[in-house]
Amino acid sequence: VSARPDLDSCFVSAAAVTFTELVGRPATGVWSAPGRVNLIGEHTDYNGGLVLPIALPHRTTAAVSRRTDGLLRVHSVQVGETVTIALDDIGPGRPPGWSGYVAGVLWALRADGFDVGGLDVVVDSDVPLGAGLSSSAALECAVGAAASDLFELGLLGDDRARARLAAACVRAENEIAGAATGGMDQAAALRCRAGHALLLDCRSGEVEQVPFDLSASGHALLVTDTRTPHALVDGQYARRRAACERAAAALAVASLREVPASELASTLAKLEEELRPRVRHVVTEIERVSAAVAALRAGDLVAVGRLLDASHTSLRDDYEVSCPQLDVSVEAARAAGALGARMTGGGFGGSSIALIPAGVVEEAEHGIRAAFARHGFREPRCFAVTAGSAAGRDI
Ligand code: GLA
Repeated sequence: VSARPDLDSCFVSAAAVTFTELVGRPATGVWSAPGRVNLIGEHTDYNGGLVLPIALPHRTTAAVSRRTDGLLRVHSVQVGETVTIALDDIGPGRPPGWSGYVAGVLWALRADGFDVGGLDVVVDSDVPLGAGLSSSAALECAVGAAASDLFELGLLGDDRARARLAAACVRAENEIAGAATGGMDQAAALRCRAGHALLLDCRSGEVEQVPFDLSASGHALLVTDTRTPHALVDGQYARRRAACERAAAALAVASLREVPASELASTLAKLEEELRPRVRHVVTEIERVSAAVAALRAGDLVAVGRLLDASHTSLRDDYEVSCPQLDVSVEAARAAGALGARMTGGGFGGSSIALIPAGVVEEAEHGIRAAFARHGFREPRCFAVTAGSAAGRDI
């Protein structure tokens, strides 16, 4: 019996059907985890700052059974590839590519002292790949949820346990897959609640659930996947992170979270010129997250929209992680009546979000498409989203 009647049953069973075909018997269970969009608080997670993601309705599904021979055998329906590796052979860069995110979770749980054995895994996903919507975190967290249940680790029980599983998924991504990301995505996939945005304090690890139901006030959140390949993202992301660490070291603070917004001007004056706009973005963005949470709680969506706009400007001009497609998508959304719009995720491509009156969703989609055509950009994909639920067992 599906615990998630909201989910398309054909989609749930696709991973399970493929599992039975490939393994020769049905999977013990099916688990899934969502992609995410971040409402505001970009490039703040690795600075100990605040972020405010929602879980997407889009999910990665994993049909899984235990194996007794210490092997991981994982098949991806999207990639059409099966990878087999002994748990003892998993390490930095091994296995390479997409399966490293799966293997990395088992490695990290074992490194954390959990008694985890081999698995047969078939994964399927409707989280758009390479769209900046955290398909990799969804993959890690779906497999982490399965491992937790199948090896009785108890890591899905409460938020504290889920935070521990999220930390293992972050280690998988940082140490095995080799992507130095900051942890927001895994927290979103494991700790979000349906109908809520997750206010995560990346310094303390504490979370607050902030009610997020735009439809109640006749609004919608429109995601635009610009379908722009972000080839430079890895190097640029690491460079931004390194710049923040350099600035924190120069200021003799543990992270840029320690810089009070009220002392921004005098703090910037102490830094070499190149680092100033980066630090200005981080410090002002953390302030904008707090302001956005207050505005959401007060039902002031006009104020939320202004903060989204300010976040985009800061990411474009100070942090320099936007790109023409992202800029055009937010400008077109605003021209169609959005209260505010911004790039979401790491940047250099990927997706943007727009807060819009529900009545102009179609007009905004049309406007964004037309603007992309005028600029000769690849056709974007637009879809409205609501705040979905965290990783868990489906069947
Ligand atoms: C990527 C990373 C996150 C976060 C964002 C920027 O999505 O995976 O950890 O740093 O970029 O906010």
